[in-house]
Amino acid sequence: MKAYVFNGPNLGRLGKREPGVYGSATHADLAQLCVRTGAELGVEVEVRQTDHEGELVGWLHEAADAGAPVVLNAGAWTHYSIAVRDAAAQLTAPFIELHISNVHQREEFRHHSVLSDLATGVIAGLGVDGYALALRWIAAHVS
Ligand code: DQA
Repeated sequence: MKAYVFNGPNLGRLGKREPGVYGSATHADLAQLCVRTGAELGVEVEVRQTDHEGELVGWLHEAADAGAPVVLNAGAWTHYSIAVRDAAAQLTAPFIELHISNVHQREEFRHHSVLSDLATGVIAGLGVDGYALALRWIAAHVS
């Protein structure tokens, strides 16, 4: 099985970006964790990051057409992008909304997600380990 991990804006800056909030792992570390976890589970994992909303929309269309599960950290788009929501709504396999930080402990504007009601599940606040947990769930529940 193939699964996608899509990371949105500013997540390419992990490691440098507000380490007190997002930790010290870089995006390359995150990608390595995902690919390694996938290999243990027999899941081919492809990790992508973009700062361009339309690019993420296109990737979601690709995953929808492939019928592939997705772990989606849409970053700030989570909170307001109807375009990302409309693309996520087209996914046919489960998708897991993921946040490295616990968005509910943070500013009010981060408490609302335009994705959560569409997501199969939501993981927030477990750091980059959340990605490995999401992939374990996918391996166990998606065929
Ligand atoms: C984030 C939380 C969002 O509120 C923020 O805009 C991000 C990252 C997280 O992983 O904790 O860019 O999705």
